[in-house]
Amino acid sequence: MNAATSATDDPHAIAAAAERRWALIVGIIIALLVAMMVLTGVHWAAMPPSRVETVDPRTLHISGEFVEANLGTSVDANGRVIARLVAQQYSFEPQCIVVPEKTPVTFRATSTDVVHGFVVGTTNANVMLVPGFVATFTATFPRAGEQLMPCHEYCGTGHEAMWARVQVIPADEFSARAGRGKRVSCVRR
Ligand code: CUA
Repeated sequence: MNAATSATDDPHAIAAAAERRWALIVGIIIALLVAMMVLTGVHWAAMPPSRVETVDPRTLHISGEFVEANLGTSVDANGRVIARLVAQQYSFEPQCIVVPEKTPVTFRATSTDVVHGFVVGTTNANVMLVPGFVATFTATFPRAGEQLMPCHEYCGTGHEAMWARVQVIPADEFSARAGRGKRVSCVRR
């Protein structure tokens, strides 16, 4: 009887060989995952995400893009629909946002105090608002109707009462109301 046959017959030797094989495979998987973490970490540290826009939360209500008269939805010179809003403890300004149906809408928003965020109803329009930074994303709303827009980052004792509304209206109705750079709003006055 040679060594090979005795090894294949010995259940302990078979188990030990299988254990070694699996230990090697798991070791390779762990090494790959660690290498991926290190590589992506170094990559992100070396190349910060592009288009980081900053804004001074202490002066944004006095001058610049986020003054009150500039908030709400409007059509810019290139025909893009822009919805601007500001979050603060414990409300959004404006409280009601009008957007056209089936049209890309670019949201530009920031916070004046702490971290807030919002999600528009059951859509995937979802963002975090960090003071000092302009959050921007583009979303298209397929159906007309009203959506609730709650704050979804815990921001203090009034967090659960912090929400706005988004009214999605037919695109032709929106362009009729947004003519010549006018701001469209559904805030009750
Ligand atoms: Cu703002 Cu929670």
